[in-house]
Amino acid sequence: MNMVALIQKKKDGKALQREEIQWIIDGYVAGSIPDYQISALLMAICFQGLDKEETFALTEAMRDSGDTIDLSPINGIKVDKHSTGGVGDKTTLVVAPLASACGVPVAKMSGRGLGFTGGTVDKMESIPGFRTTLEPSEFLAQVNAIGMAVIGQTAHITPADKKLYALRDVTATVDNFGLIASSIMSKKLAAGSDAIVLDVKVGDGAFMENLEDAVTLAKLMVEIGNSAGRRTVAAITEMGQPLGKAVGNSLEVIEAIETLKGNGPADITELALKLSGIMVYLGGKASSLEEGMEKTRAALTDGRGLSQLRRFIAAQGGNEAVVDDYSLFPQHTVEKKLTAETSGYVHRIEARCIGLASQHTGAGRATKEDTVDLSAGVYVHRKVGDAVQAGEVLATFYGNDEAKVDAAAAEASKAFTIGTDPVEAPKLIKEIIGLETEWN
Ligand code: URA
Repeated sequence: MNMVALIQKKKDGKALQREEIQWIIDGYVAGSIPDYQISALLMAICFQGLDKEETFALTEAMRDSGDTIDLSPINGIKVDKHSTGGVGDKTTLVVAPLASACGVPVAKMSGRGLGFTGGTVDKMESIPGFRTTLEPSEFLAQVNAIGMAVIGQTAHITPADKKLYALRDVTATVDNFGLIASSIMSKKLAAGSDAIVLDVKVGDGAFMENLEDAVTLAKLMVEIGNSAGRRTVAAITEMGQPLGKAVGNSLEVIEAIETLKGNGPADITELALKLSGIMVYLGGKASSLEEGMEKTRAALTDGRGLSQLRRFIAAQGGNEAVVDDYSLFPQHTVEKKLTAETSGYVHRIEARCIGLASQHTGAGRATKEDTVDLSAGVYVHRKVGDAVQAGEVLATFYGNDEAKVDAAAAEASKAFTIGTDPVEAPKLIKEIIGLETEWN
């Protein structure tokens, strides 16, 4: 095969064959096809698109470019949960304990934060002693012993996606449905769970800024998962404002703990119950979504979810006393407040802006190599729809560097819009896709 001819074919709007896609991915990972040719192909894909067959083939070629995890030694139907990324999204730390407390084994790999979005691995590392790397045998044994484990993605999963994603990032070729769907789903398929719940975020703090695009992406990912034999359901959820109130690593873990204690913000609580309810249903522990949600609500109310979080922290070497004593988390030394200039109602809180502010405090990274300040971040005191009086605190910024915290406050001052009329909070869960699919 000839790479120049394949680039030309895609540039002319023709579909690539499965074998051609496989050849390109194999050659790219092996180093025989250079970045500049893949860049040209990616740009042609952005203009001409990928059809479903091409998207399925690309997903499978990337899945098979590295290790695939065999979770068969774990008993039961393993269900994974994946968020397309947002600001303040700590749902994994609530959803995984709730689902596993209801008998669904959760064997999950998570990522780190980049840019204005956070990552579960960084959040977990704010727990003193917590290990985000486990040997494969330890990972499997832990899930069989306590029902859940969450680790960082291993280096050997989907190397093709790692290389491609890095290239897409610097060639303005991230925003294509087929490329995004195949990138996410190749990792999910390689990670080995039997069923997958996708949380597709929509809004200015997400990849997909409008509902139509989010639905298109969600449908494509559900089709990829189902056609690969993994029952897949997607929830389309609000990311126009941050999820919950805490943004930043230890702040978010504390909010997840509070949520499992029954004191969480309404949105994170509702989302966690819905997503874990879907997991319980897909995991065969409930005969409907409603029953799944009743079970996860019971696990929240009677404290089984919180007990499961304690067990999980201890199993991965973390100090489980953090659940009762938040002073054990890394501490900030600098704090600054942003207050409302006028009275009224919060009309808008731009999630992306709050995410950037959190990054400025030191909680996020601009490049993969940056280290993060685990104590830093933003706490949003008022959410969309809340009434506010002039002079009241809208957000607090935490960190260990005065200049960084000042920069964060300056960034976030653009995030809030206060209006005189009352407004409704935006609908949190917009749509659920794939629940109706027949499955045996
Ligand atoms: N997240 C991914 O893993 N890949 C993409 O292409 C976009 C978001």
